[in-house]
Amino acid sequence: MFDLLITHANLPDGRTDMAVGIRAGRIETVAPSAELASAQAVQSCDAQGQLLSAPFADAHFHMDATLSYGLPRVNQSGTLLEGIALWGELKPLLTVEALVARALAYCDWAVAKGLLAIRTHVDVCDDRLLAVDALLEVKRQMQGIIDLQLVAFPQDGYLRSANAVANLKRALDKGVDVVGGIPHFERTMADGAASVPMLCELAAERGLLVDMHCDESDDPLSRHVETLAFETQRLGLHGRVVGSHLTSMHSMDNYYVSKLLALMAEARLGVCANPLINITLQGRHDTYPKRRGMTRVPEQLAAGLTVAFGHDCVMDPWYSLGSGDMLEVAHMGLHVAQMTSQAGMRQCFEAVTTSAAKLMHLNDWVTDWSQAKGKAAHLVLLQATGPIEALRLRATRLKVWRSGKLIAESAPAQSQLHLPDRAASTQFRLR
Ligand code: FE2
Repeated sequence: MFDLLITHANLPDGRTDMAVGIRAGRIETVAPSAELASAQAVQSCDAQGQLLSAPFADAHFHMDATLSYGLPRVNQSGTLLEGIALWGELKPLLTVEALVARALAYCDWAVAKGLLAIRTHVDVCDDRLLAVDALLEVKRQMQGIIDLQLVAFPQDGYLRSANAVANLKRALDKGVDVVGGIPHFERTMADGAASVPMLCELAAERGLLVDMHCDESDDPLSRHVETLAFETQRLGLHGRVVGSHLTSMHSMDNYYVSKLLALMAEARLGVCANPLINITLQGRHDTYPKRRGMTRVPEQLAAGLTVAFGHDCVMDPWYSLGSGDMLEVAHMGLHVAQMTSQAGMRQCFEAVTTSAAKLMHLNDWVTDWSQAKGKAAHLVLLQATGPIEALRLRATRLKVWRSGKLIAESAPAQSQLHLPDRAASTQFRLR
């Protein structure tokens, strides 16, 4: 007897008409629907040929800044640097209550969109560490619904900002999970390069993961990712370090990148691109042609690296749009990286689901459907027949389950038509 039996589902790996049996919050069986035709279950769901996926995971976000758009003013230039300055104006005005309220509002959006894991950077450069306290509270309140990972992020520079070294340690002592950094924002290239081993050593000492904002510029000589990959190997942190953004790789010399990719692969460095934000913030110093600025995703995948797409920002000093829809993120990534082949589009879907879960070390999640047995029954049913259609339609999340329990549902998207001699409605498919 299952607690929940989902039948007639398509899976992201291409298998169709599959059934998933869930007991005690875990996936017990994945088999063709016909094999489980007589199985008993407390609750059942006929997926009717729609896509059943692992939930969306966002490997790069800023929940302390989210939904603050317009506070205290709007970013006029649209650049990263004005965004950082604007965030600096907002910081003294922050309260724990307002931070928690905005973050929880975003968590509601996330759950509705089937986004059940978020790695959020949290600024540690305010001596009060208000944002740290607020997001630890949000993490506590969302426990069992959203896997929230906090990254200690020295937004104003680890060596550049007074007290950042001490404050980052204080944040880790309070329970922040991951060590962050921002080498390209330090005062000099040398300071940037010096910050990387300091932060990696801190992570190694404490047994923590690393996720650094790294080389978020169009400067082809911003090469801190090289130091990050080297330090990852020197300290034996293989597979435990993520380079976020890496936008300078877009502008680097091709020969240098060919050497760099091998170093990154040896370190098993994770990569998180942020397509919506990269296409918005990068290239702002260009006239024409304007660079796209996103890191070299297809080449990184070809080198064997795990690459995720993050949302980074929603309605904050850097980005005025967004709704927590990771399919929108993947859709932009697909276009910017020109990943238009069938395989490429599937990789874009993975970049916001299983690849993101791998970068976040969500070992309890389904990251490979052939190994789903025993994993947590965190699942999303999408109004799409497969990953490519899900991307095309930014598909409605029909149902969202956490540990086999339904936590959100949405009505199917459908438009009624009032046309003579045509169908009464359409769901944006041929039939
Ligand atoms: Fe970021």
